[in-house]
Amino acid sequence: MTQFTISLLAAALALTSAVQAQCGSGSPHATVTGSGSSFKATRGSSQVYSGSDYRAAIQAALDSVSSGQRVAVMASGSIGANTITISSGKIFEGCGTINVANRAGRGAIESTDTSDVQIPYLTMTGSPYFGLRFSGTRNLNLGQITMNLSGGLGIRFDRDRAANSNVKMDVIRVTGAGSHAVETWNIDGLTVNQVIARNVGECGLLLQKTTNARVGLVDGDNVAAGTGYATLRMANNNGQLASGSYSTNVYIDKVVSRGGGRGVFCVSQSGGAVINSVDLANNGNNAILIENCYNLSIKGGTVQGGGEVRLAARSEFPNNKDIWVTLTVNGNTVRESPCGDNTNWTISGNAKKTIC
Ligand SMILES: *[C@@H]1O[C@H](CO)[C@@H](O)[C@H](O)[C@H]1NC(C)=O
Ligand SMILES: *[C@@H]1O[C@H](CO)[C@@H](O)[C@H](O)[C@H]1NC(C)=O
Ligand SMILES: *[C@@H]1O[C@H](CO)[C@@H](O)[C@H](O)[C@H]1NC(C)=O
Repeated sequence: MTQFTISLLAAALALTSAVQAQCGSGSPHATVTGSGSSFKATRGSSQVYSGSDYRAAIQAALDSVSSGQRVAVMASGSIGANTITISSGKIFEGCGTINVANRAGRGAIESTDTSDVQIPYLTMTGSPYFGLRFSGTRNLNLGQITMNLSGGLGIRFDRDRAANSNVKMDVIRVTGAGSHAVETWNIDGLTVNQVIARNVGECGLLLQKTTNARVGLVDGDNVAAGTGYATLRMANNNGQLASGSYSTNVYIDKVVSRGGGRGVFCVSQSGGAVINSVDLANNGNNAILIENCYNLSIKGGTVQGGGEVRLAARSEFPNNKDIWVTLTVNGNTVRESPCGDNTNWTISGNAKKTIC
């Protein structure tokens, strides 16, 4: 083949995949269409809902398909303080904008005790209690999720319910959450491409009791301002394996944080983690705080200004152990107090250091 033919072929292939990769493209098994106070849910050639209730239309579409089938919500509308439930094997595409309200303790969209649920696309606005709420899932796959919120918490995996395994997230963008953008509990096997958090009240990504995790980028701007939360926080035994060990099983490629509260925070017996690089600037609280954390390595990157880079310990848990930090720190200070057990600092830049 000539070079020209090859590049034409490549262009054609790229076009094909771009077309396929659109919300609602192809032939979804069910769709929700309409606007204002008139919505229809259609499965194949049969109408499964017609009326003014956007939520009921979406739920009727979901309930009309079986495992492995796809629902595309083309219409925009408001579900109010209600919950949409996705059962096992269903593929949910939110192509319109789904506006939601706060239903105490509940998710605007929930999937619990399910396997193989996919949400390849979702755009949500409003102020939910939890935008998406999960527990007891297996092989959950979230794609391009955009939440432009005016309060509430973006994506939550429950603390006190069944654990999850093999969760994937592609690109999660959360703006304006009052609490966390993404909060996990009880996941074994998590892959995240990107979490992008803007003007979020608490954490960008909060990992708790989550093991065997791989995260590409966590990027926060004005996240956790005025609080002790962080763009990336690992807490409550995050990264501790079932055996009790902290051998490395949480891999974070990059954390970017500007302003807000803390940048990176590892606390309450978490660890078993490697962060390849950080790019933190002007954080309003500690750029980095490592407190009762075990086997954590930050392998490189920069801290510019912001609150102190600090190793600390509370007396309720064993002291920091096996913390390795390689970093360029400017316009800030680095403090280790109390001395950790087997800390290894490689700090360059003009930071004043008070380390052991
Ligand atoms: C969400 O916010 C982004 C960034 O501000 C904006 O580009 C997008 O249009 C918004 N989408 C909706 C549905 O509000
Ligand atoms: C820290 O993790 C590394 C990589 O898995 C492992 O080799 C090492 O034994 C761990 N150290 C401790 C003290 O758990
Ligand atoms: C401390 O970390 C540096 C950089 O990773 C490494 O080269 C060095 O060997 C470590 N020191 C000890 C005592 O392990």
